[in-house]
Amino acid sequence: MISNNRICFLGSGSIAEAMIAGMLAKKLLHADNITVINRSNKERLYHLINKYNVNSTENKVKAINEADILILAMKPKDIGESLIEIRPFIHQKQLIISVVAGVTTGYITELLQQNVPIVRAMPNTSSMVGLSATAMSLGEYASAKNDRTAQTILEAIGTVTIVEEKQLDAVTGLSGSGPAYIYYLMEAMEEAAVQLGMDKHIARELIIQTILGAGHMLKETGEDPSVLREKVTSPGGTTMAGIETMKNFQFQEALIQGIKRATERSKELGKQFIEISS
Ligand SMILES: NC(=O)c1ccc[n+]([C@@H]2O[C@H](COP(=O)([O-])OP(=O)(O)OC[C@H]3O[C@@H](n4cnc5c(N)ncnc54)[C@H](OP(=O)(O)O)[C@@H]3O)[C@@H](O)[C@H]2O)c1
Repeated sequence: MISNNRICFLGSGSIAEAMIAGMLAKKLLHADNITVINRSNKERLYHLINKYNVNSTENKVKAINEADILILAMKPKDIGESLIEIRPFIHQKQLIISVVAGVTTGYITELLQQNVPIVRAMPNTSSMVGLSATAMSLGEYASAKNDRTAQTILEAIGTVTIVEEKQLDAVTGLSGSGPAYIYYLMEAMEEAAVQLGMDKHIARELIIQTILGAGHMLKETGEDPSVLREKVTSPGGTTMAGIETMKNFQFQEALIQGIKRATERSKELGKQFIEISS
């Protein structure tokens, strides 16, 4: 579906590489149709050219102008300058996909001064292994065709869920920061294992498989997590003893409050960023 499209990445960091690797692994298009551009780091461009056979060019204007799809993959602080730089060379037949955290489609439209179709996405770091939980929303001028194109591209790094743009802060607090919460949980599980005299590496192996297994169980059975938990919690048993103790330490409440605070922080950063750029 996108095999004949020319894609230009503005930003060639970790997320750009994950998307390139995913798209090529899925054979969505030929490496020749991908151009990578960044601000100044030539070594990084050589790395991508050598590893994936993609293109880069000194002629940024031509690459931007001739692309069917532009992927914005720079840090939020750099997007304002970049949009102003590319503004004269973009046109409304192009699709812009932004993975830049906290930057609204409205803001991008305003800076581009054109009604270009924009799709905004929030992947997470598991994109590096093709397992991102990505949420995306369509900007005002994006069509159903743009929607399908963006989904096809983003599915190269994991799953894609469509949400309203106003929900993207909550997505950031939930699945954007989500991998870190799981790592945090794992750190605690590992610490408990060590305190119980277990070898750290053995414990890690067990924890990783436990988390993978629990994720698969949820996905494959379609059951509610509380149902699965109750099934393995027999009265007077070990799991119940563990969960009762965690309840006393307000384990679930800590998670709920943490996710709410991360969502709030996403809103704060978004506002701060727009104030700085305007
Ligand atoms: N990594 C993730 O898993 C992930 C997940 C969700 C969202 N995101 C979002 O994706 C964006 C990029 O993240 P990242 O981790 O890939 O960052 P990164 O590794 O730091 O890469 C940022 C890239 O942007 C380039 N850049 C800066 N200014 C530019 C400009 N004016 N024109 C073109 N390119 C420019 C940089 O080039 P130079 O090196 O030459 O300066 C660099 O290649 C961020 O907004 C982040 O919030 C990332």
